Amino acid sequence: MSTVAAPAPTFPLADYKPLDNETLASRIQAVREQMGSELLILGHHYQQDEVIALSDLRGDSYQLSQMAAESSDCRYIAFCGVHFMAETADILANRPEKVAERGSRVTVVLPDMAAGCSMADMAAIDQVEAAWADLGEVIGTDDVTPVTYINSAASLKAFCGRHGGIVCTSSNAAAVLEWAFRRTSRVLFFPDQHLGRNTALKMGITNEQMPVWDPYNSDLGGNSEESLQQSKVILWKGHCSVHQMFRPEHVHGLRERIPDIKILVHPECPQEVNDLADVSGSTGTIIRTVEAAPPGTKWAIGTELHLVNRLKQEHPEQEIHFLSPVICMCATMYRIDLAHLCWSLENLAAGTPVNVIEVDEETARWSLAALERMLKVK
Ligand code: 13P
Ligand code: SF4
Repeated sequence: MSTVAAPAPTFPLADYKPLDNETLASRIQAVREQMGSELLILGHHYQQDEVIALSDLRGDSYQLSQMAAESSDCRYIAFCGVHFMAETADILANRPEKVAERGSRVTVVLPDMAAGCSMADMAAIDQVEAAWADLGEVIGTDDVTPVTYINSAASLKAFCGRHGGIVCTSSNAAAVLEWAFRRTSRVLFFPDQHLGRNTALKMGITNEQMPVWDPYNSDLGGNSEESLQQSKVILWKGHCSVHQMFRPEHVHGLRERIPDIKILVHPECPQEVNDLADVSGSTGTIIRTVEAAPPGTKWAIGTELHLVNRLKQEHPEQEIHFLSPVICMCATMYRIDLAHLCWSLENLAAGTPVNVIEVDEETARWSLAALERMLKVK
């Protein structure tokens, strides 16, 4: 966890819990007006509607990284998303040249420290280092590029930075893999096996060339030496617990009921679902696809529930269904509510910031190397 010791908060969280959303929203608005352009509230598309309504900018992981990288007059970022996103914002907004230009660091706060990402937690730095050492013995690592999905701790991004690797998001994974294959003939991809597999399959790489590395299997991650020698992409055994709930039978069921329905999914969904979809892409791509479709288009969307419900409200001219019959929502994204946002903003305005996310200098330096490589990939 990248946090810093902070002074005791001026206002305790317990005072905010009983307040209704209307009161919280007007107090948040008051802090926004008081702090003006010094404060930037960033909201990921999976956030609750009331949080999105109070965000200055919303986006997918890639867009939010760009926004943090480009921020110039803000001094504070309140990140309404999950921990790895706030870490990334801290690294990008506090690049040495940016700090020199503005004369101070940007303070990044995550309104609730419990807003993590279970997928990011599926790859720990010691596990990745152990895998790298094992691979070094079996196939050598000179010809392997480590690629981490942005949904990962800063320590993993730094690992990639140190080893000539790169970060990707769901919107640029194909371009990043192409970049990696110009550098080496193999890739170690973590932590999301589904994004790695779905992207590489579209590039003509077969499942036989993509062994899965299980960090809990001390015997070469559960692989034979031969399968590693034949590999093109070594996939980490990680997944998103939200997207893994979308199943092929949901696609078949909807296509039976509504024959002209189009299936739109996030590439964190398993291959069996991704293969059946009409379109697969990041949250930003999902939104743009719906926006560009003619009125009357029927969609079944396989991604986090809050985004799908918002699309339904914003596009009444289209018929939008949730792909799964059961609720698939990101419980950690959901932790950011108006009470936490108001608490963190009022403490920020009072000069006693809470939940400050600050990546240590060495980790930030190497993470930045991997993030900058990504930002240059077109
Ligand atoms: P996007 O990069 O598409 O915004 O996705 C982030 C995420 O966490 C999806 O689960
Ligand atoms: Fe992580 Fe999945 Fe939540 Fe995205 S939806 S933040 S990958 S747990």
